[in-house]
Parts: sequence; C-alpha cells; structure tokens
Amino acid sequence: MKILYRIEKSQSLADKVHQLWVNAPHVAHHAQAGQFVIFRIDEKGERIPLTISAVDGDSIRVIFMTIGKTTTHLARLSAGDHIQDIAGPLGKPSEIVKSGTCVLVGGGVGTASLPIIARAAKSAGNRVIGIVGARNADLLILEDEMRDACDELQISTDDGSKGFHGFAADLLKQTMAREKVDCVWIIGPAIMMKVTAEATRTAGIKTYVSLNPIMVDGTGMCGSCRVIVDGETRFACVDGPEFDAHKVDFNTLMQRIRMYQPEEKESLEKFQSHACACKGGEHHA
Ligand SMILES: Cc1cc2nc3c(=O)[nH]c(=O)nc-3n(C[C@H](O)[C@H](O)[C@H](O)COP(=O)(O)OP(=O)(O)OC[C@H]3O[C@@H](n4cnc5c(N)ncnc54)[C@H](O)[C@@H]3O)c2cc1C
Ligand code: FES
Repeated sequence: MKILYRIEKSQSLADKVHQLWVNAPHVAHHAQAGQFVIFRIDEKGERIPLTISAVDGDSIRVIFMTIGKTTTHLARLSAGDHIQDIAGPLGKPSEIVKSGTCVLVGGGVGTASLPIIARAAKSAGNRVIGIVGARNADLLILEDEMRDACDELQISTDDGSKGFHGFAADLLKQTMAREKVDCVWIIGPAIMMKVTAEATRTAGIKTYVSLNPIMVDGTGMCGSCRVIVDGETRFACVDGPEFDAHKVDFNTLMQRIRMYQPEEKESLEKFQSHACACKGGEHHA
C-alpha cells in the first residue's frame, strides 16, 4: 500500500516564503537539528531537499522560498493535500556540544533552519544568541520563535526598516567585539555564508555553514551534491550538509548551483503556463 504524507497546514510567512506542516512520523520521530528531507510531490515530480525546520509530534515543518517549479507547486498545496514521497531524516545532525556562547546567524529563508539548532544548543548548556537578517522588515521570518528559542535575539535589515541597518555579518562582528563567542552557525545564501564566515576566520572561532548544492538521491550515490571542503571532494548529502565554514570552497559551490539555471527557468515557465490553463486549481507537475 502506498503511503502518502498529509499536509496539516500550509501558510505564507512572507513574500515568496511559505511553510508546510506535513504528517511524516518516520521523519518526525528521528529528526535532529541540521538534518533535511527530500520531497517528491508526485510520480512525475523532481526530488528537492528541504531542511527540517521544526518537529511537533508526528509532523515536520519545512519552510521554503518559491523560486522554481517545485517550490511554486508546493506552495500551492493546501491542508488535506498529500505529498507522495518524503525521504529522511537525511544528512548528519549539527555537531552540538557544550562550548559556551553560540551565535546563530540566519540570512533570509536560511533562518528557517535556526530554531531547531538554537533549542538543541541551549539544551546542551550553551548561551545562544540569534542574529536574523533580511533585506527588509517584510521578509523577516520566525522572529518570535527565535526570540523564544534564544537567550538574546538581534535583527538586521539591509534597508534599516527594522532593527540594525546593515548586514547580519556586522552584528556578528559587534557581538564578537562585545563578548567571547565560542561557536557560530551561519545559514543563508551561499554568498552570505561566504562573506559572513570571514568575520570569524581570524578569530579562530569554530563556524559551521549548511551547504545547498543540487541534490538528487540524497544517499551519496549520484554525486550531484559534491562540494570541495579542505581541498577534498565531499558529498553534502551524507558528509554534511553542515561543514566547517573556513574550509569550504564557496566559489566552486556557487558555480555548480548556477549550472542548470536555463533549464530551471524553462521548467518554471512551463509549469506556470500549464497551471494557468488548468481549471479548478488542479495542477500537474
Ligand atoms: C540540504 C539542503 C537543504 C535545503 N533546505 C532548504 C530550505 O529549508 N528552504 C529552501 O527554501 N530551500 C532549501 N534548499 C534549496 C531547495 O532545495 C531549492 O530551492 C529547491 O530545490 C528549488 O527547486 P525548484 O524546482 O523550486 O527550483 P528550480 O528552478 O529547479 O531551481 C532553483 C534553484 O534551486 C536550487 N535547486 C534546484 N534543484 C535543486 C535540488 N534538487 N537540490 C538542491 N538545490 C536545488 C538551485 O540553486 C537552482 O538554481 C535546500 C537545499 C539543500 C541542498
Ligand atoms: S545527492 Fe546524490 S550523492 Fe548527494
């Protein structure tokens, strides 16, 4: 018998940012901070990796930006609809130990990964400072949840519409100047992780980033998620997705992420024109 995963809740959080709560007991009961799932909406659907952002009983939450065909399709699903396949939890959990003060920096939708890490870091006995950055106030997500999960929360917006006017990296530098920081997580777009990680390099602070290369199988077989860390090829799906930020070759990662952009654009355009032609809100991938 085919198991389908029921969507419990579907909600927009900000412009182009959407959350889904999905009933997936086999994932929910084993998930740890830093891990991800691979969704396939239906038989014809592509497989896309999404971080496990929260767990509640038998359900998991994923938060995603609608940037292409599959995330646009996912955001159109409602409570009561089903996902055909969910593989996970995948990847190595975050390396959380008692180390002192941990700073968690989120950029844009990358913030979705932080509350679960914040709670785990606090449970391990750390003081946890959250820094959440976005382009503007309307794009900030999970502010209340992060305030609740952290000992202290700082907000930055690029345009100054809320909190500190500037980048999350600036707040990280200010925090490091103010107090001793023992470990840092930075999760966001690759360029933001690359630039922000420079702030901790010279100080020698252990810094983790969560990498987002293209993934297909999520089991270390296909090789599509290969990244270069410390000069060696690693598979983000099984060796990561979190790695030592100061050892990651971000330039190669960014080149590889952009590799299929023309095909992705064409696929989204086809989906959107087909979805518009569908009557009664029924869409096919
Ligand atoms: C471990 C991991 C966790 C992730 N967690 C999140 C998350 O929590 N929230 C979120 O918004 N995004 C997350 N992503 C990125 C997300 O998987 C892509 O945004 C998604 O696959 C885009 O699919 P699409 O069809 O909508 O877009 P497409 O038009 O197909 O692609 C748009 C861009 O998304 C990326 N992408 C496309 N296909 C894949 C794929 N199979 N694997 C990885 N990246 C892909 C590429 O950068 C591509 O240029 C994660 C990626 C990884 C590797
Ligand atoms: S996704 Fe295939 S090896 Fe990692």
